[in-house]
Amino acid sequence: MEIIIQPTPETATQIAARIIARLLREKPNAVLGLATGSTPVLLYRELVAMKLDWSRVTTFNLDEYIGLPPEHPQSYHHFMWENLFRHVNIDPNNVHIPDGNARDIPAFCADYEARIAQSGGIDLQLLGIGTDGHIGFNESTSSLASRTRIKTLTEQTRKDNARFFGSESEVPYHVITMGIGTIMEARHTLLLAFGQSKARAIAAAVEGPIMAMNPATILQMHPTATFCIDQAASEQLKLQDYYRWVFDRKPEWQRV
Ligand code: PGA
Repeated sequence: MEIIIQPTPETATQIAARIIARLLREKPNAVLGLATGSTPVLLYRELVAMKLDWSRVTTFNLDEYIGLPPEHPQSYHHFMWENLFRHVNIDPNNVHIPDGNARDIPAFCADYEARIAQSGGIDLQLLGIGTDGHIGFNESTSSLASRTRIKTLTEQTRKDNARFFGSESEVPYHVITMGIGTIMEARHTLLLAFGQSKARAIAAAVEGPIMAMNPATILQMHPTATFCIDQAASEQLKLQDYYRWVFDRKPEWQRV
C-alpha cells in the first residue's frame, strides 16, 4: 500500500489527478472504475481542466441507488454526467453505471460483471470511503469476496448521505454496488479520503486487522493500492511519519 498524505484535499486531489492523467496518456483505451460522493468532485473538476482525451476510455461506476430515475439530481447517473462526462469527449456507449431501475436486478448485476470482464478488466478503480469503512456501497459485514449485487444501506450511511437529499426519509434504502471481490480485481485501486470524519475509518483500513466490519481493510490484500488523503484524514494513523518519509524519498521514476 502507498499512503500519500497531503496538507489539503486540493493537493491530495492534484496527485490523484496526475495518477489518472498518466494512465490515460499511457493507455488511451484504459478502463476506469469511478466513484461518486463529495470526495471526488474536486478530482473530476481537475481532470476536466486537464483536457485529457477520453475518446477511447471506458468507465464503470461503483454503485447507484435503486429506484431513483436517472435524471434525479441525487442519482449517480446525474452526478457523473454533471461532474465529469458532459465536460469531456467520452463516448456515451463506453459509460457504464448500474441501472437502479433494472427490472431484473440479479440479471443486471451478472451482466455488469460480464461487461467489466469483456472490457478487459478495470485498470484503475477510484474509491471513496464511508465513515464506517465501506467502499462502493459495500457496508460493514459485506462478504470480502462479494460481486455486484443489491445491498441495503445502513442507518449511518443513509444519515451521512441525507445532506445531499432534502431529508433522510428521501434517501433510498437499497442500492446496486460492485462487490468487494469485483473491486479487488482492478489492477490499481486509488482511494481518496478527506476530513477528520474519515480519520477513524482510514486508520482501521490501513493499520487495523482485515475484517468485513471495515470493508476497506481488504485493500491491504491488494498488490497496488494507493491512498491519497489529506492531513485531517491521516490523524489517527500510527505510522503517518513513515508514510510521509516514504513519499518524500520516492525515486524520481516513481513520481507522478
Ligand atoms: P463521500 O462518500 O465522498 O460523500 O464522503 C464516500 C463514501 O460513502 O464512499
